Amino acid sequence: MLSKTMNKALNEQIKIEGQSSNIYLAMASWAEIQPGLEGVTEFLYMHSDEERMHMLKLIHFVNERGGFAETPAFEKPSLTYPSVHHAFKELLAHEIFVSESINELVDQALKEKDYATHNFLQWYVSEQIEEERLARTCNDKLEMIGDDKSGLYLFDRDILTLSQEGEKA
Ligand code: FEO
Repeated sequence: MLSKTMNKALNEQIKIEGQSSNIYLAMASWAEIQPGLEGVTEFLYMHSDEERMHMLKLIHFVNERGGFAETPAFEKPSLTYPSVHHAFKELLAHEIFVSESINELVDQALKEKDYATHNFLQWYVSEQIEEERLARTCNDKLEMIGDDKSGLYLFDRDILTLSQEGEKA
């Protein structure tokens, strides 16, 4: 059984994961109308779907543990970006924020000796390591590419392979 505090904290995380999905959905929609960003577009739509899955996983856990998962309202995300690099900088900053939030949940679970929630959260801890790694790799590459259009072409072509390699690792 979840404590009221833990239920509230997990509901906050449900909102954060859903908000992440919304942010990446907006990025994907922006990328889709830019010329030549088919790979980036697909990557962002997939990433948005993954975040929705993170939200759903939390919703089921909260309800199965005797709590109540509240469906959150989301803030309107940025709809346009000056460049792909700007979008990925925001993506990395957001993933770091998500990791911090997960760490606080882990802290709370330990404080309450709620080992079931602590155990459940380990999946998110591992997932965040991978998501931050991928976001950093993308940012490092975009930093190198700068304004070079042929570099951006290759980045767009290779980004899906980059994310699949991360999943296999
Ligand atoms: Fe589910 Fe990328 O945070």
